[in-house]
Amino acid sequence: MHKIQDILDAKNYIMSKTDLRPTIGMILGSGLGTLADEVENAVMIPYSEIPHFAKSEAVGHANELVIGELKGKTVAAMKGRFHYYEGFTLDEVTFPVRVLKALGVENLIITNACGAINTSFNPGDLMLITDHINLVGTNPLIGPNNNELGTRFPDVSQVYNLGLRNIATEVAKEQNMNLQQGVYAWWSGPAYETPAEIRMIRILGADAVGMSTVPEAIVATHGSMKVLGISCLTNMACGILDQPLSHDEVIEVAGKVRSKFVQLVKGILEKID
Ligand code: 6GU
Repeated sequence: MHKIQDILDAKNYIMSKTDLRPTIGMILGSGLGTLADEVENAVMIPYSEIPHFAKSEAVGHANELVIGELKGKTVAAMKGRFHYYEGFTLDEVTFPVRVLKALGVENLIITNACGAINTSFNPGDLMLITDHINLVGTNPLIGPNNNELGTRFPDVSQVYNLGLRNIATEVAKEQNMNLQQGVYAWWSGPAYETPAEIRMIRILGADAVGMSTVPEAIVATHGSMKVLGISCLTNMACGILDQPLSHDEVIEVAGKVRSKFVQLVKGILEKID
């Protein structure tokens, strides 16, 4: 379990590398990390250099923190994240969120590539996350609560901030983009779901399913950060179409959606605050 001092060590290290003080954080999902390449006056800090950060080797992730300016805002973008399925503890998965908060980040844009369950969605669509379902049976806040970080029993009636969601829908409209909305279910992975599991998850009320985002969103909410969740629907989930899934397909579709995704997030950044 990380201590407050660990968060401060990481924060102080990052602050020693740049005079910029980010107010907006971004966690960039599979295939979506190129957004970080557009950040100006960027300082790149490999996760391996940051005190107490875990080390990730997931395919499709660069594993560095990029701090700089984008659309006039000072941002901290995580190019690559830590996944629960890699064997990291949820404390390791969510530690960067604590560090972003300590750096002064108040708005956190969490992105991912995921599977579509709602049959009105198509591969390549973007989806605004309206709410989530935690199917993993654990929670990143399990353990002693540190009252300096947040309350013991946090309210999660609005994890995905309505003001930020309204900005996102406004930007999508301006850009003539069909931005879907829906509930994201968190599945541990690394195996995708079976067709029977997808039928179950659909009945439970999810529109999309993926292997990330929820732990970070819970910890950000615990820390009173505003969260915006954007999913890239890379494929229909198993059993929705009669088609096997492949990670290569996920990365390929995420790549095709990239420019749409980048335009959307840039438009949102412009309008935040
Ligand atoms: Cl179908 N399921 C999960 N859990 N993650 C995904 C996915 C499906 N497609 C992309 N990522």
